[in-house]
Amino acid sequence: MPIFSDLDALSADAAQRFAEAALDAVRQRGKFVVALSGGSTPRRMHACLTAMPSGSIPWAQTHLMFGDDRFVPPTDDLSNERMARETLADHVQVASLDGMVRADTPAASADLYEALVRERLGSELALDLTLLGMGPDGHTASLFPGQISVHEKKRLVIGAIATMSVRDRVTMTPPLLNNSREILFLVAGADKAAPLKRVLEGDENWDETPTQAIARYARNVTWLIDEAAAANLSPETRARIS
Ligand code: 6PG
Repeated sequence: MPIFSDLDALSADAAQRFAEAALDAVRQRGKFVVALSGGSTPRRMHACLTAMPSGSIPWAQTHLMFGDDRFVPPTDDLSNERMARETLADHVQVASLDGMVRADTPAASADLYEALVRERLGSELALDLTLLGMGPDGHTASLFPGQISVHEKKRLVIGAIATMSVRDRVTMTPPLLNNSREILFLVAGADKAAPLKRVLEGDENWDETPTQAIARYARNVTWLIDEAAAANLSPETRARIS
């Protein structure tokens, strides 16, 4: 796919890929389980999804989950669940939307969510599609630099600590994220150019750039990036990811 001129073009392509993944999953397995990303980048893609002609996406067989969330009530402005409801789920009729924050502590919420993930995914434990962003510090989901969460090898969902807005988080871990049938990274903006170069070209250092633990080891990764985020990439890298 091209390196996109801007977030609008990137989001339209991401929405098309979301629709294709959904139709493929429902055709093959009768349902589509997707992990949404938080932050602001996905908003435009969600708008593209809700604007698609009726029948483009099998919403009635679609189960929305989250790759991570801030440990705040789902009604809080900072909640990824709230953002997903406002920009997507409130506009379509999905089979289910599973919020992550449903207990008194991040760890207890993570335990509940892991049980739900196992129920939804069955023994293969493979999300059909995972949408991920990346922070200017190189984090993805809520796997933050300098935190042990990126090194989790057994648990599928854990409580984590962020080094930015809202410290307490709940996040899917590399074992679960990397087993996704497809991962789309949506990365736009000049503030992502430095970490994106570390992820795609840099020495391996998960503590510095946790996104490497997903981008370099997951089953199937597609990068949807804009020119601003790609500014520091070598011609070889641009060719490799296009
Ligand atoms: C979160 C997200 C996080 C996000 C990045 C990028 O809870 O904040 O899940 O991992 O994807 O921080 O955020 P932007 O898209 O807002 O730059």
